[in-house]
Amino acid sequence: MTGGSDFVVVANRLPVDLEKLPDGTSRWKRSPGGLVTALEPILRHNSGAWIGWPGVADVDVEPIIEGGIDLHPVRLSAQEVLDYYEGFSNDTLWPLYHDVIVKPKYVREWWTAYVEVNRRFAEATAKVAAEGAIVWVQDYQLQLVPKMLRMLRPDVTIGFFLHIPFPPVELFMQMPWRTEIVQGLLGADLIGFHLVGGAQNFLYLAKRLAGRQTSRGAVGIRNRLGEVQMGNRSVKVGAFPISIASNEIDELSKRKDIRERAQQIRKELGDPDKIILGVDRLDYTKGIDVRLDAVLELLAEHRMDPNRTVMLQLATPSRERVQSYIELRGHVEQQVGRINGEYGQVGHPVVHYLHRPIPRGELMAFMVAADVMMVTPLRDGMNLVAKEYVACHSDLHGALVLSEFAGAAAELIHSYLCNPHDLESVKDALESALTQDPETGRSRMRALRRQVLAHDVDRWARAFLGALEKSKSSNSVQ
Ligand code: ADP
Ligand code: F6P
Repeated sequence: MTGGSDFVVVANRLPVDLEKLPDGTSRWKRSPGGLVTALEPILRHNSGAWIGWPGVADVDVEPIIEGGIDLHPVRLSAQEVLDYYEGFSNDTLWPLYHDVIVKPKYVREWWTAYVEVNRRFAEATAKVAAEGAIVWVQDYQLQLVPKMLRMLRPDVTIGFFLHIPFPPVELFMQMPWRTEIVQGLLGADLIGFHLVGGAQNFLYLAKRLAGRQTSRGAVGIRNRLGEVQMGNRSVKVGAFPISIASNEIDELSKRKDIRERAQQIRKELGDPDKIILGVDRLDYTKGIDVRLDAVLELLAEHRMDPNRTVMLQLATPSRERVQSYIELRGHVEQQVGRINGEYGQVGHPVVHYLHRPIPRGELMAFMVAADVMMVTPLRDGMNLVAKEYVACHSDLHGALVLSEFAGAAAELIHSYLCNPHDLESVKDALESALTQDPETGRSRMRALRRQVLAHDVDRWARAFLGALEKSKSSNSVQ
C-alpha cells in the first residue's frame, strides 16, 4: 500500500477550507492560523502532498490540486468535529499546553475520537506516501500519528513539529493519556519544538513515562539534538523556531498599492497621531483583553489622548462553539464597548474592532499603517504576527510591544517586552512604544528586521528537514 508522493505534510487542516455558499456552490478559502502561514509557501515552492481536513463536517472531497499543492482531504463527521477537534484538541490539549489559562477538560469519549481520527490520518498518509517518503506531521491534533504511521509504513521517515508550546512537566502530568501521547510522538525520527525548554520537557517525559534512555545535555546547541533510544532506533529531539516568508512579506509591504492603502486607512481612521494595532485569532491565549485593559487604564490616567490615538483590533473568528471562546468574545466586545462608551466621540471611536478574517494584502496595509503593534499573549508557541509586523517595516517606522510569553520574544529582543500578567508592565511598554523618539525607533526596528529577514521560514524548514534526513541516515546505518 504505497502512494506516489515523496514529501507529505500531514496537518489537521488543509491550507484551504471549503466554504459552502448560500447558492449551494462551494469555494476554497485560506485556512486560519500560523501553521498555514508558515507551511503554505514551503509547499508552494517544493512539490509535495498535504493531507488534512477541509474544515467542514461530513463532506467527501476528492484529492485536488489547489494553488499548486496536491491536497488530500480527510473526512470528519459532525460528531468527530465535536469530540476530536473542538473537544480533545481545543478544550483539552490547547488549554493544557497553554499553561491552563482555562481549565482543560478530560473526557473519555473525546480521547476515543482523538485516537480514531489520528488513525484515519495515519491510514490516509500511508496511502499517499511513496516508498521511503519523508512525512512531516504537524501539531497537537495529530500526536498519535507518528507511531500509528510507523506501524503501517516502517519504510518512511517521519518528522513531527509542534506549533504550540510544550507544557511544563508538572502540567503535562495531569493528562490521563499522557503515556500514550509520549509514545505516539516517539514513533517519529525527529520531534521539533519552537524552544529549547519544550524539547527538554519532552525528553524528561520520554524517560519518566516511556522508560527510555535519553541524552538531553546537547539540546538547543546549534546542530546538536537531544536523543531518545528506542531499541535499535534513536529519536532526535530539538528546537526549531518557526518563522514567516519574510522576503515575500517585505516585498508585498513595499508595493505601491499597499502603501497607498495604508495611507488611506490612516485617513479613514481620522488621521490620528498614533494607530495601535492588534491582529489575532480570537483566542484567550492572545491577551486581547489584556491590551484593551491597558488602553482603558492609560486613557483613565490621561497617559493616552483619546482624540489623537486610535486602536484597531482585527480578530479572526476561531473555535466559535467552544464555551471558553464564546465567553472570550463576549468579554472582548464588552471591553470595546466600554472604552468607546467612555472615551469615543460620535463618528470617532477609540477602538475599531473587526471580527472577521482580513484578506492578506489588506492585512499588510494595516500593518504598514500601524505605529504600534500589540502582541500580548499570555502564552504563545511563537506568534507570527509579531514577525509579520517587523517584515512590513522596511521604512523602519513603528514599534512592537511583545509579551515575554510569546516564543518570538526569545528572538525579538529589541521590541518593547512586557509581562501580560502584570498590567502595569503592559501599560508602560505601550506608553514607551507610543512615545519613543524616532531615532530609537529606527534603531530598534533595524535590529528586529535583521533577525526576521535572516531567519525566515525557508531556513526553518531547511533546518528541520536537514536534521530529519540526517536522523534517517543515522538510523539506517545501525
Ligand atoms: P496562531 O497560529 O495561534 O493563529 P500566529 O500569530 O502564529 O497565531 O499566526 C496567525 C496567522 O494568522 C498570521 O499569519 C496572521 O497574519 C493571520 N491572522 C491573524 N488574524 C488575522 C485576521 N483577522 N485576518 C487575517 N489573517 C489573520
Ligand atoms: O498553530 C496553532 C494552530 O492551532 C494550528 O494548528 C491551527 O491550524 C491554527 O492554529 C488555527 O486553529 P484552528 O485550526 O483550530 O482554526
